[in-house]
This record gives sequence, C-alpha cells and structure tokens, in this order.
Amino acid sequence: MSDVLDLTDKVALVTGGTRGLGYAMAHAFADHGADVIVASRKADACERVAAEIAAKGRRSLGVPCHVGHWDQVTALAETAYDAFGRVDILVNNAGLSPLYPSLAQVTEELFDKVVGINLKGPFRLSALVGERMAAGDGGSIINISSTAAEQPSPEAEPYGAAKAGINSLTRSLAFAYGPTVRANTIEAGPFLTDISKAWDMAAFEARAKESMALGRGGRPDEIVGAALYLASDASSFTTGAVIRVDGGARL
Ligand SMILES: NC(=O)c1ccc[n+]([C@@H]2O[C@H](COP(=O)([O-])OP(=O)(O)OC[C@H]3O[C@@H](n4cnc5c(N)ncnc54)[C@H](OP(=O)(O)O)[C@@H]3O)[C@@H](O)[C@H]2O)c1
Repeated sequence: MSDVLDLTDKVALVTGGTRGLGYAMAHAFADHGADVIVASRKADACERVAAEIAAKGRRSLGVPCHVGHWDQVTALAETAYDAFGRVDILVNNAGLSPLYPSLAQVTEELFDKVVGINLKGPFRLSALVGERMAAGDGGSIINISSTAAEQPSPEAEPYGAAKAGINSLTRSLAFAYGPTVRANTIEAGPFLTDISKAWDMAAFEARAKESMALGRGGRPDEIVGAALYLASDASSFTTGAVIRVDGGARL
C-alpha cells in the first residue's frame, strides 16, 4: 500500500528547526524520507540538528538565519536553492512572544522584533520560495500561527496581531502560487516547549483543565501529525486552511 505521508525525494526547509515544534517537525519530515534544511539564529544548534538528520541517512544542512532580518532571509533562500536546487516544503515556524509589563511599555524595538520574526520573515521567505515552487514542481507552505491570532490577549501583543497577519498571509499565498503550491496555517495552542518555561505551571494547569477540552498542554511531537498531513499528498485538496492543533482550547 502506498504511504500517503511519504516525503521521499522532497526537500523541506524549517525555520526555528532546532528546538520545540520546529525540531519535532524537522525530524518527522526526515523520518518520512525528506531531506531537511534547518534554520535558526544559532549556527551551532543548526549544525547539531543537521548532523542528527544526516545520521538518519538524509541530506541535511543547517543555516544560521535571523528571520526578522530581510537580507538574512534572502540569503537563506539562496543558500537553500544553491545547495538542494529545490524546496518542496517550507515551514515558517520560528516565532516568539516576549513578556512585557503593560501595553504602554511595549517599546518600538520589541514591537518591531515581534512583528519582524512572526510576520515579516515568513512573508519574505514565502514570497521567495513560493515563487520558485510555482515556477517548478509546486510545493507546500506551512505557517505556524497561534490561537492568539483568534483570541487576542493584552498579555501577548503585538504577537497576536502578527499571528493574525500570518493567517491572512497564508490565504493570499494560496491564491498567489496556487494551484501547484498549497499554503496552510497550523494554529497552535499551548505546547510545552522552551516557551512554556516562562509560564507559572500551576496556574497554567488549572486554567487548562477549565478552558481546554483535553485539559493539558501539548507535547512537541503532537504537532507532527498535522505537519505531515499538510506537507504530503494527503492534503492535496487542502489549501488556504487553518488547522487548529490546540487541545480543544476554548476560543
Ligand atoms: N509553544 C507554544 O505554546 C506555542 C503556542 C502557539 C504558537 N506557537 C508558535 O510555534 C512556533 C514554535 O514555537 P516553539 O514553542 O517551538 O518555540 P521554541 O521552543 O522557543 O523554539 C523556537 C525556535 O525558533 C528559533 N528562533 C527563535 N528566534 C528566531 C529568529 N529570530 N530567527 C530564526 N529562528 C529563531 C529558535 O532557535 P534559536 O534560538 O537558535 O534562534 C528555536 O529553534 C512559534 O511560531 C510560536 O509562536 C507556540
């Protein structure tokens, strides 16, 4: 029986692929046959994860890149195409949501950083890669958003606004580069990654029992099913969609 999730001969590019959800997705793609380019800010982390994936018998390359910097994103796309000649799966996963004392104390620097990493970088990389996918064999763009896009909170702005922006961007990409390129959003709920280390876990667990159907935060590997579905032919009729992977969070 053919494996509808098979990614043999595909090349995946995952930003923020060195930790958390990106790390889980990068390994899952490799486990299903893809070669994987891993990008994050830290060169040593990129090299370490690329070596892990290479040890599985896949081609892999770690590329240091701060996705909030336009020129670094341009360079990432160039490096990916120079090294592999193609990108079939792009996952815009790198993101962050820094804490701040109050909305009025959000600095211009923090605002620009959050919007830069969560929205500007994905826009630039999707345009560069999407255009080449459309001119070639097509592909799948997966943008990692957040339930904060639909349930904005005063504690997580401009993050929520940037993630709402990526939801909108995804639909535009589906039309810009379709029909051969599909673009979809995964809206993540709370996952227990490095991000959650800053949370008051007792308060989080109490809140999760009240407000989430599954009553708990997700494990990083629990993003993998949705990512494999969207990356592979299993989702051949799915584009411009938002898939919530959030443990049934009440929005
Ligand atoms: N965890 C959650 O509860 C949750 C909920 C909703 C949505 N999300 C979204 O899911 C995505 C992944 O989150 P996560 O929890 O897996 O985060 P994480 O564990 O903190 O990992 C973040 C990854 O992104 C990289 N990164 C951070 N800033 C970067 C930058 N400027 N340029 C390039 N890479 C950068 C990090 O590596 P370096 O440090 O080496 O750069 C790391 O590989 C994010 O978009 C986040 O907004 C997460």
